[in-house]
Amino acid sequence: MAINERAILQSELRWTLIVAGIVAVIIGAMLFAALTMHVNPPSNREFVDPRTLHLAAEFTEENLGTRVDPDGRVVTRVITTQFEFVPNCIVLPADRDVTLRFATPDVIHGILITGTNVNTMVIPGYVAQVHTRFTKQGDLLMPCHEYCGLGHTQMIATVRVVSPDVFRPDSQGRVSCGDDR
Ligand code: CUA
Repeated sequence: MAINERAILQSELRWTLIVAGIVAVIIGAMLFAALTMHVNPPSNREFVDPRTLHLAAEFTEENLGTRVDPDGRVVTRVITTQFEFVPNCIVLPADRDVTLRFATPDVIHGILITGTNVNTMVIPGYVAQVHTRFTKQGDLLMPCHEYCGLGHTQMIATVRVVSPDVFRPDSQGRVSCGDDR
């Protein structure tokens, strides 16, 4: 039986429509997650020199950890490095907008905070920034989730979410876990 060209075209058109439908469903799911569940890739594009990270400007040792700025903004700065977080414990208030800023001097790390949608890569040369608001209090784990070398599995920090009335900055605006470095 001769192959009917018309039948082939119809079959191709059918599969085109099926594939287009699948792509539409996937894009629809992404839009739904981004718009209603606030699950979306971090969009911050900000450069930092990984070689001088610890020497000058924002990510020097005395700037790390949580600080309340004079305008009331709560910002935490953390360095992710092989194979630890500096500091390895941060304190943040519940029910308040907070900003997390990460930078790395060495290789790519990834962070997530368990039980939240906070999840980002930390790439040398860039500042990874996340805005969030914690609704539950308690100690949350923040592991590195990007293989970064032999000590990767040891790389874990604590995010201590406390009630806003025990979140008391010192005279410098700093809040720390107390037992961290
Ligand atoms: Cu850092 Cu894995």
